[in-house]
Amino acid sequence: MKRILTGIQPSGAFHLGNYFGAMRPLIETQERGQVFAIIVDLHALTSLRDPAALREYTRRAAIDFLAVGLDPARSVIFRQSDVHEHAELMWVLSTVTPMGLLERSHAYKDKVARGLSANHALFAYPVLMAADILLYDADIVPVGKDQKQHLEIARDIVVKMNETYGEVLKLPEPEISEDVATVPGLDGQKMSKSYGNTIELFLEDKPLRKRVMSIVTDSAALEAPKDPNGSTIVDLYRLVATPADVQRMKDDFRAGGIGYGEFKQRLFEAIRDHFAPFHERREELVANPDEVDRILEDGAERAREVASETYLRVKQAVGLA
Ligand code: ADP
Ligand code: TRP
Repeated sequence: MKRILTGIQPSGAFHLGNYFGAMRPLIETQERGQVFAIIVDLHALTSLRDPAALREYTRRAAIDFLAVGLDPARSVIFRQSDVHEHAELMWVLSTVTPMGLLERSHAYKDKVARGLSANHALFAYPVLMAADILLYDADIVPVGKDQKQHLEIARDIVVKMNETYGEVLKLPEPEISEDVATVPGLDGQKMSKSYGNTIELFLEDKPLRKRVMSIVTDSAALEAPKDPNGSTIVDLYRLVATPADVQRMKDDFRAGGIGYGEFKQRLFEAIRDHFAPFHERREELVANPDEVDRILEDGAERAREVASETYLRVKQAVGLA
């Protein structure tokens, strides 16, 4: 059975971009293989220095993933920090990772350019990510284009390890989901926590409606025909409405006589209805923190079985065991 693995940073509430770009594709792959969903709290530490928030987001990440359909009976969901082999393997990998490889990382350069202070963990981030992937001999790593370079770094690290110590790690052949469209945010840019333009998952109706109403549009008059191409409203509607409803909205855009407010109202209702089935499961999980803890502990135990075996192989190869 194929092993499908991804890491999710618990650094804030999930939004529609995370859902359609990462969570839903991962959940769909449960049909084709065994999913490992790692809540990468060690990675989140590179940007989050609020212990209560980190705890809260980590719990929320688990709850939200389970609520939208991650099945803990089939899949393994766990906290990265619960499996100490991640940090340990990272150290060993660091010893063969050339500085130049990390200096070329776009994600690192972007973060520094945006004003995040350049600490060592931010720089070493891809090495920890390589450890996440290599510990589980992952076959498929469904991530968006923005993570492609990180996967290439993981491959380069394997080559270095194997050149130095013999065939100790498996070269991952990750499947990068190029086809996942970028979900636009309220301002039409890529939806992202760091741009403050998100629509969060699991909002109550009132705040959800408020977010949708704040989508930026042009100032076309109510009577004027409007262009559906490139409209954020239409692009988001496509994700949550039936093809027939999308067609109707596009026709109504072109016909004129309807203002953006009404189109936003349709979008709001479609988002609300699309996520309604997940709310009940989510409330159940929120009310049962013990169940969430148990799922995470059980996940960590199953993860450790695989990770400890891989790491022992590495320790033997390098002379630590
Ligand atoms: P953010 O940009 O909000 O910080 P992350 O970088 O933590 O989001 O992304 C987590 C996952 O969600 C990644 O796999 C990423 O590719 C996906 N993702 C994030 N935003 C979007 C988006 N707007 N459209 C599609 N996928 C997205
Ligand atoms: N770097 C990824 C992101 O920001 C998160 C991540 C950490 C990850 N470890 C991983 C993704 C392992 C895939 C596999 O989205």
